[in-house]
Amino acid sequence: MGSLAVKMQAFAAVSLLLLPLKINGESFNHMTETPGSDYPVAAIILAAGKSTRMRSKTPKMLHPICGIPMTAHVIRACREAGVSRVVLIVGHEAEKVKAGLGSNVEYALQTTQRGTGDAVRAAESLFTDWKGTILVLAGDIPLLPAAALKSLLDSQRNSKAAATMLTAILEDPSGYGRVLRSDTGQVVGIVEQKDATEAQRAIKEWNPSIYAFESSALWNSLAEVAPNNVQGEYYLTDVIGILNAKGRTVEAIPADSAKDVMGVNNRVEMAEVGGEMSRRILRELMLSGVTITDPARTYIEVDVEIGQDTVIEPDTFLYCGTKIGEDCRIGPMTRISNSALGDGVSVVSSQICDSVLENKVKVGPFANLRPKTHLCEGVKIGDFVETKNAVFGAGSQASHLSYIGDAEIGEGTNIGAGSITCNYDGYRKHKTHIGKNAFIGSNSILIAPITVGDGAFTAAGSVISKNVPPDALAISRTPIAIKEGWAKKYHELKKK
Ligand code: UD1
Ligand code: MG
Repeated sequence: MGSLAVKMQAFAAVSLLLLPLKINGESFNHMTETPGSDYPVAAIILAAGKSTRMRSKTPKMLHPICGIPMTAHVIRACREAGVSRVVLIVGHEAEKVKAGLGSNVEYALQTTQRGTGDAVRAAESLFTDWKGTILVLAGDIPLLPAAALKSLLDSQRNSKAAATMLTAILEDPSGYGRVLRSDTGQVVGIVEQKDATEAQRAIKEWNPSIYAFESSALWNSLAEVAPNNVQGEYYLTDVIGILNAKGRTVEAIPADSAKDVMGVNNRVEMAEVGGEMSRRILRELMLSGVTITDPARTYIEVDVEIGQDTVIEPDTFLYCGTKIGEDCRIGPMTRISNSALGDGVSVVSSQICDSVLENKVKVGPFANLRPKTHLCEGVKIGDFVETKNAVFGAGSQASHLSYIGDAEIGEGTNIGAGSITCNYDGYRKHKTHIGKNAFIGSNSILIAPITVGDGAFTAAGSVISKNVPPDALAISRTPIAIKEGWAKKYHELKKK
């Protein structure tokens, strides 16, 4: 068991490395930070709104899209675009939002939700001595690619405009603010749907709420925003008209696709955005050499890694923190979360959580691998087997109908059908140690704490309540009695 224990420790370390992807906290935030340059860029992400249209007890910004909160996608896009300072404006359910998005960003509090312009002003005190470009964007645009932010920043840097905004075109941009242009095509303002005239509502160019401002132009014009509109709110969108009135230029560049900048305001839009993100994740994986038999019936979250020539069969769900090697066959009907699978692994109709499976492991159908299961090379876990906090040495197997919990099993050991570890005495969990090349007969009941030595046998149907030395046989059965002819007499009696 010595070498096995060492190996297990090594793999426990690997598992720990694999575990930090969580929905909450900052740990999902794996992006690189570009250090400050002669072109400092900060981002202000608006996340203080009440999100009434979601009709949810959870703040909109924390609703997950492909495994991480919607606003975490926006933060990632900013980081990838080289933004070093990210400030989130929080207000409604501020503490929940902060806990969900982590401490990798700065926060500013908007105490009362008086509109998007008021929200940006909540960050002003954090920028007193700061000069540069400020990206302002809503926290509900999870599909926004970093590339779109990079083009926006490039355009703003090269044009020397007071602001540059992204715009998009839709046949029916109902609900969005419309972009107003002069006869010469210059952006002169934005009008909200609720404040727009019939003619303005017919404009197809809309405002996705993604802007790059020269910092002093932003703060100066924000000070002039007044709540004189249908909603009685301080609109950030008014800043564009204010800048224009001051004779400053506002540039606009078109987004590559309206989908990239789609905002989420209700659960229908959230499903649309989630579906699009899912399709993008699957597409990337397929282009990288993974076969996905039926993408419409496959769900894979962000950051899941899959090796070349692995096949993902339909109705398979791979959640955050999962890493799968090459030449594996996963599914159909499989759920795997936060687990590491080696090469050549096959999993059919099973569920795996917080576990490590080394090369050439076979699982299923209908197995449930619960947290801290570790299967070394070539292990086989068959139908209706449940494992938890269990290490299986190389080549060992539990092929049918078992529960193995809080156990360490040596290499080459066979666990017979229906065998279980009795690990819980109603108060505490106890450990089962089984050596290598042991044979646990079918329906053995192993009452932990217990040790079965290397090469030992337990007889089928035995209740094992004492340690079994190496190479011994443990048998605990009621002696069998054979009554010759009994059955025949029984049937004759019944027939009368
Ligand atoms: C906003 C824009 C609209 C644009 C649309 C794009 C304004 C006035 N309108 O409208 O032109 O087409 O986004 O999706 O800016 N928020 C706060 N504090 C507040 C109010 C809102 O932080 O007091 C945050 C929200 O949490 C959200 C963002 O600002 O992240 C936008 O708010 P939302 O209510 O979704 O604005 P829209 O009506 O979508
Ligand atoms: Mg919105």
